[in-house]
Amino acid sequence: MVGRGGAGGGGSAGGGGGVRVVVAGASGTVGRLVVGELVGAGCYVRALTRDPRAAVRAGVGGVLVRADFGDRASLERALAGMEALLLITSDPLRPDHDERVLEAAVRAGVGHVVKVSALAVTDAGAGDVITCWQRVCEQRVRECGLAWTVLRPRAFMSKALAWAPSVRERGVVRAVYGSSVNACVDPGDVAAVAARVLTTPGHGGRCYELTGPGPVCAREQTRVLARVLGRALRFEEMGVEEAWRLWRGRYPEPYARALLESAERQRAGAKAGVSAGVRQVTGRAPAGFADWARRHARFFG
Ligand SMILES: NC(=O)c1ccc[n+]([C@@H]2O[C@H](COP(=O)([O-])OP(=O)(O)OC[C@H]3O[C@@H](n4cnc5c(N)ncnc54)[C@H](OP(=O)(O)O)[C@@H]3O)[C@@H](O)[C@H]2O)c1
Repeated sequence: MVGRGGAGGGGSAGGGGGVRVVVAGASGTVGRLVVGELVGAGCYVRALTRDPRAAVRAGVGGVLVRADFGDRASLERALAGMEALLLITSDPLRPDHDERVLEAAVRAGVGHVVKVSALAVTDAGAGDVITCWQRVCEQRVRECGLAWTVLRPRAFMSKALAWAPSVRERGVVRAVYGSSVNACVDPGDVAAVAARVLTTPGHGGRCYELTGPGPVCAREQTRVLARVLGRALRFEEMGVEEAWRLWRGRYPEPYARALLESAERQRAGAKAGVSAGVRQVTGRAPAGFADWARRHARFFG
């Protein structure tokens, strides 16, 4: 255990004070929000990270614990004596990461594992490497012998942060298939659901599908951002070849190919459906993209 990070958060987890929770992936988009919710609700939270100093600088709360998904001993130390695990991993080319964290959870006798997966697993037409990885990881969680819950979010609204530099510098949003829609979800809602599921009874053996309130396309998101920022923005459609070159420059080939397949499925309408998971668990409606944009306007200048 290497110290305590920044302040907790909203405290909306509800009724779960005192639960001892390990958050794997605690410095990431969803993990840090969950840590904030749980700390605010009075839980003891071990926030796993490979780099506690960076996590402190980034304001990640909870008790920061150095652990690596590739290092069994660090995971066993982190899980010892804990009651619940939020499992967030991020590398589709390392399915062993989920396996190792789960093994440590089983050895520690953790009472409940909550896994962040992806809604694409329910799409029979999705056979890309990211979706296949999540299907295998889900199966492992269901078969590990511990009580489990799976969260299946649609794309995070925070993906729009990738547009922030070009919005700030040139007033431009560039994306592939700009008219194709996605019922994207606010990561804050995913975190609120995770916190609730980790701290209240009745969620064992359940899968929750998490979307925003309605499908939205990149062109519409550009219009919303422009309204929120109070200035004109232009949308530019990115060609598929350009998107491929961009992703290929950033990611390993199978991952880049998965992003391309995912964009094609979105164009075909596979990601438009809305589900009731956020309301079902939290009792309130999911946030729309305009809500998310208002809370993140500072990143767009
Ligand atoms: N992005 C989307 O639109 C979307 C949509 C649906 C589902 N999902 C799913 O959501 C999950 C990702 O959630 P996220 O975006 O909140 O995560 P994220 O921002 O990618 O962060 C993941 C965290 O995992 C930690 N990590 C990575 N490798 C590690 C290792 N070897 N050992 C220990 N920690 C490690 C990193 O922490 P440190 O660097 O501090 O160690 C990182 O902060 C994935 O399973 C993804 O499939 C994402």
